[in-house]
Amino acid sequence: MFMTTKKMLVTCALPYANGSLHIGHMLEHIQADIWVRYQRMKGNHVYFICADDAHGTAIMLKSQKLNIAPEKMIAQMQKEHKKDCYEFGISYDNYYSTHSEETRELLNNIYFRLKKNGFITSKYIYQLYDSEKNIFLPDRFIKGVCPKCKALEQYGDNCEICGAIYTSLDLINPKSVISGKSPIIRKSKHLFFDLPAFTDTLHIWIRSGSIQKEVANKIEEWFKLGLKQWDISRDAPYFGFKIPNTSEKYFYVWMDATIGYMGTFKNLCKKNKNISFKDFWDLNSKAELYHFIGKDIIYFHSLFWPAILSGSQFRKPTNIFVHGHVTINGSKISKSRGTCIDVSTYLSYLNPDYLRYYYATKLSSHINDIDLNLSDFTTKVNADLINKVLNLASRNSGFIHQYYGGQLANTLENPVLYDMFIKYKHSIGELFQKREFNYAMRKIMKLADEANFYIDKSAPWIIAKNKNRKKEALSIYSMGIQLFRIIMIYLKPVLPTLAKYSENFLNTHLTWDSLSAPLLNHRINKFKIIFLRINPDQISSIENKSNNLNS
Ligand code: MSP
Ligand code: ZN
Repeated sequence: MFMTTKKMLVTCALPYANGSLHIGHMLEHIQADIWVRYQRMKGNHVYFICADDAHGTAIMLKSQKLNIAPEKMIAQMQKEHKKDCYEFGISYDNYYSTHSEETRELLNNIYFRLKKNGFITSKYIYQLYDSEKNIFLPDRFIKGVCPKCKALEQYGDNCEICGAIYTSLDLINPKSVISGKSPIIRKSKHLFFDLPAFTDTLHIWIRSGSIQKEVANKIEEWFKLGLKQWDISRDAPYFGFKIPNTSEKYFYVWMDATIGYMGTFKNLCKKNKNISFKDFWDLNSKAELYHFIGKDIIYFHSLFWPAILSGSQFRKPTNIFVHGHVTINGSKISKSRGTCIDVSTYLSYLNPDYLRYYYATKLSSHINDIDLNLSDFTTKVNADLINKVLNLASRNSGFIHQYYGGQLANTLENPVLYDMFIKYKHSIGELFQKREFNYAMRKIMKLADEANFYIDKSAPWIIAKNKNRKKEALSIYSMGIQLFRIIMIYLKPVLPTLAKYSENFLNTHLTWDSLSAPLLNHRINKFKIIFLRINPDQISSIENKSNNLNS
């Protein structure tokens, strides 16, 4: 069959550089990584990138609190995030930072193009100002009484109790979160991006692609409300990029964050001269561009970002892939409430592939939230990965080593079963392609059941008792290994650590193209038990480190 290889650029949302990554963040990196690894196995040419989102008031205040320079703090954070992703097997080609020369240059470029094309205007606005700390207050740094339902302690943009959306000036009795004092109202000149000018373009873009239904519905609601001018400037003090030809004005962090995708790719091009920036970002680019994001940042990626690209003559994304949020044992992840498991905590007790597998069994192309129930997680990993999949390797390889020096039989004991297993490559491949990983995992585990059933039914250990039937036993055990290999090829995008181990054990590379070629008369290595069942004590240790989870 004729297959064209595609050129793709895939991104995850850029994590803020003011805190450690938790296993909720990891959902996105894992979802994208599984998809990317599948694309690569199919022969597509994929660049996969991420970076830290290093700017904004929250980051500036955090560094002040820690009493270190923001540059130093974001450099440390970037190093930690990069390591977390690497240890989770996320196969990034580059993990960079928005606080970079590449991003600054692209941002200025885009800004000048937008300005030249008439999409930037300025006007005076009124905002709450903390006159003790001398700073304009972002919505998240103001709390007060909801103007609608009168709930206490609500943020400056919306009410968590009644859902009302308002501006901070409407809040009753507002207080600065930073100083605790009542803010004053102060006037300042701001720059605005003309989002409404892109209403038609965005409509066409959204309808032309294959945006997820729930996402498209959300966007339609925003269209109905009407798009608004977007404030892209912030006053000093701010940690970010200065707006050219202004005094003490900075770009709002969300203006340079998405451009950080481009900056990160540009940095990759610098490191690898064979990659062409233009091929991926020019208006007439044939490459595909995909952004994996959480449901909380759809507005930025489906409206602002394509509008900015469009207004500055760059290509628009091919699609955005939105996922829901992870809850742990039914609770929202929150550092302050102690319902948060940091990536490093998880990794000090468990193998990353276990969580990768669990998320895969829950992930779909929809945006519903995903609960990480720790006891369900334990049961599933132990039952599926250890008892079903790895057990196939261990129960079948002992005999082959004991009597045949690890040499597999030279024919297939059951070619019909083998064919049935490899026929699944179309449906399983299709499910990976559509990000319906949960269905893919179900199919693969059904195959693992079939394979174990085949061995149980054939009972080679009984046959092997007869000295003259040892060869027959070998061909059955070997068949078990062949089926294990097919299953591991299907699982390879999900389980990089286990796949690597299996490649060593099977003494071969696991590739999608080699599915139809069984390992005949081939020597395998000894199977060592290094992937252990999850022990409830490990879960307790993780819970204890994360304080409130076990209460
Ligand atoms: N810095 C912005 C993104 C800029 S993209 C140009 C941001 N950062 S974040 O650190 O708050 O979130 C990064 C990603 O992690 C987002 O896609 C967000 O939806 C996702 N998640 C944060 N908490 C999550 C869960 N509990 N569960 C799943 N994803 C979560 O937003
Ligand atoms: Zn309210």
